[in-house]
Amino acid sequence: MNTKHAIHLAITGEHYVCAESQDVLRAMEALGRRGIPIGCRNGGCGLCKVRITEGEFAHSKMSRAFVSESEEHDGVVLACRVFPRGDLAIEPLAPLARCINRHKAQA
Ligand code: FES
Repeated sequence: MNTKHAIHLAITGEHYVCAESQDVLRAMEALGRRGIPIGCRNGGCGLCKVRITEGEFAHSKMSRAFVSESEEHDGVVLACRVFPRGDLAIEPLAPLARCINRHKAQA
């Protein structure tokens, strides 16, 4: 069974659906909105840094160069390494937030 969860993207107020087997970044890309940059998708570039403000999730290995231990305790993760285990609320951080805001302003 591949349970799906709702993801709330705080910066735009949008919601999207993400399956437990899918990472949060890939599902966000499926929104098709401009301003979601394509990074390494492998936890190594830090482009997709977000803070999970609500909900349960699992994650695979992330580079400590981009997410420190204390940030991780504060809910900061790389979206390409996160898999939802419940509905989530996420707050994009720089540089992802900058990219989304730039395109939001142009829309
Ligand atoms: S896309 Fe590179 S760390 Fe997520």
